[in-house]
Amino acid sequence: MAKSTRWSVEENNPEHLPICQHKDELVQAVKTSPFLVVTGETGSGKTTQLPQYLCEAGFCKDGKIGITQPRRVAAITVAQRVAQEMQCTLGKEVGYQVRFDDCTSQDTLVKYMTDGCLLREILSDSSLSQYSVVILDEVHERSLNTDILLGLIKKIFSGSSKITRGRSSPLKVVVMSATLETDKLSAFFSDCPVFTIPGRLFPVCCSFGSAVGPKDTESIGYVKEVVKVALDIHGSEPAGDILVFLTGQTEIERACDLLFEKAECIDYRFDVQDQTVDGILILPLYGSMPTDQQRQIFQPPPPGIRKCVVATNIAATSLTINGIKYIVDSGFVKQLNHNSRVGMDILEVVPISQSEAQQRAGRAGRTSIGKCFRIYNKEFWEKCMPEYTIPEIQRTSLTAVILTLKCLGVHDVIRFPYLDCPEERFILEALKQLYQYDAIDRRGKVTHLGELMVEFPLHPSLTRAVLKAAALGCQDLLLPLAAMLSVENIFIRPGLLFSQPEKQKEADEKHSALAAKTGSMNDFARLLSVFQLCKSSDRPSAWCKENWIHWRALKSAFSIETQLREILLRLQQKKDFPVETFDGNKSELFRRCLCTGYFTNVARRSIGKVFCTMDSHGSMVHIHPSSSLFDQEAELNWVIFHDVLVTSRVYIRTVCPIRYEWVKDLLPKLHEVDVYELSSVAREEVTEEEVKRWETKEAAKRPPDVCVEDAM
Ligand code: CDP
Ligand code: MG
Repeated sequence: MAKSTRWSVEENNPEHLPICQHKDELVQAVKTSPFLVVTGETGSGKTTQLPQYLCEAGFCKDGKIGITQPRRVAAITVAQRVAQEMQCTLGKEVGYQVRFDDCTSQDTLVKYMTDGCLLREILSDSSLSQYSVVILDEVHERSLNTDILLGLIKKIFSGSSKITRGRSSPLKVVVMSATLETDKLSAFFSDCPVFTIPGRLFPVCCSFGSAVGPKDTESIGYVKEVVKVALDIHGSEPAGDILVFLTGQTEIERACDLLFEKAECIDYRFDVQDQTVDGILILPLYGSMPTDQQRQIFQPPPPGIRKCVVATNIAATSLTINGIKYIVDSGFVKQLNHNSRVGMDILEVVPISQSEAQQRAGRAGRTSIGKCFRIYNKEFWEKCMPEYTIPEIQRTSLTAVILTLKCLGVHDVIRFPYLDCPEERFILEALKQLYQYDAIDRRGKVTHLGELMVEFPLHPSLTRAVLKAAALGCQDLLLPLAAMLSVENIFIRPGLLFSQPEKQKEADEKHSALAAKTGSMNDFARLLSVFQLCKSSDRPSAWCKENWIHWRALKSAFSIETQLREILLRLQQKKDFPVETFDGNKSELFRRCLCTGYFTNVARRSIGKVFCTMDSHGSMVHIHPSSSLFDQEAELNWVIFHDVLVTSRVYIRTVCPIRYEWVKDLLPKLHEVDVYELSSVAREEVTEEEVKRWETKEAAKRPPDVCVEDAM
């Protein structure tokens, strides 16, 4: 087989994409209808080409073309690609915006962004007056923000009178989806037209393995198995690239290390059947990877080299890598789910759905027939994999989006036009949390504090703590912490990457020393201290290297801190920004501010090393080994925590010791409201009498029965 033909000209030339033959019809369809659904196989050119067609057709004269993506990596890499195709500098005519990274300018005509960013823009400009066209892309992924955008856009722009509100010309809305649900989407937008781009998908032969069965749902032993399968393909199958699906960065790095190690030992004269193949190029692909490395994924490999991309689910639909002929499917994905055991959202590794598995397999059949190797057996498919993936809106916390809706004037959050309704109890849970944070009042109306909170792209607990600190004038402690909690893990764990226990020991010692420097063992203070020490160092990158800290993560944290500070300054310039005084011990200030936001995450020592959370779940939890407090449990009675990890046990990570007095007055709030009492608030049917009745009832309630013991 000639190496040069494997990588056909066709694949890298946008003029050969399936969408091209339909350019004029598509432009016409957008012109004639305010809403349009576009569907077509992944890789047909929807995301990269349609915005260019519309730009060429003159839509940019009336405003920008905005395209939303559920994933930040997709927004960035696609913008890079389109800038290249349109021969302009990224950030000029073509740009992107993702949380904490805005690469657009006055000249930007085509703007790729995350769905979360567009949601924020609607908050400040509900008529989206800067845009002539808004394209909601990857709708089949059913991300929470995209689902909310669908409802909002329907609410704001449906009905002819509303389409032009505050705008010079009507907004055009295009909804793009890989497959599925197009009828449902069309019906949602008053039976709008559906444009189908005829796909071409070659057959993919799928086989089941035996490594994962119904009993293996919690095991992560599949990394070794996918590596073995990928190497088998390399040895026995004809030329063609491999795409391996795993669930996250750590796993992917481990798999790549193993692949490198094994690939070193291959003798291409004997071990590889296709003699045109004389090497393998191993490339990781995950969300938080540096963008220049991501770009490499799309480059054709040198002649004779087989590319093997080890990716998260991002390669299932958001990004199309050309040349893939073989898929190795682990059968798992990392997903954010609401965990009813602890009452919080948790990132968990779960089996993928059957439709997801079909989508993964399809990635091998874009340009010729392909093969998909599933490492799980048929029984796993039948018993453990659901038919479809449940939309995020039905499985995660709605607190932040409900606050956004309320701030946009949507009071009746139960009868909001959802494409698929979340369960009512999830909406009530969100209202309860917002009430606890003082973001809404008893009638469900947004408070002044709620209006300030919605401005921050952070978790409500953290926002609440930042605002408390700002009111007390100590934002310099909380802003860096908020930034540090917004980046990926900053502590390098060499043991995981290179299996070098001695290096791991060195890193652990450095990390403990950083904690010790803060005076008190406290994970929040450790993060703050890393930020401050690195920032004040003459050579910050060298400082990071020496202390086993990810320099790239720290650089992002510096930039995020600046952006958060700008948001805060803007809010502080408004006349009624709250100001408070504090007459307690200054050294406690940091932790007391944290308590204002994290009183929902308080745990109290129960027996031995077991802690019990103080919310209505009363879960039994343990301190995670990565915490600087791991060996100190004996001295702790009360702690707050940032997040939890659920394995066979529930672990709390990023922990801080506190005193009972600091949360004493806040804890009753956790038990004060019965969610069902809030249901009338959710529907806005609450009457004066009801509020009165409620208040009398509340006054009669005693605070929860906790004994005041505090050995700190
Ligand atoms: O949106 P859809 O899945 O229909 O296709 P697309 O993302 O517009 O991809 C069209 C083509 O552009 C594919 O062949 C991709 O491989 C290619 N592409 C690329 O080479 N580099 C990127 N960063 C993005 C897309
Ligand atoms: Mg796409």
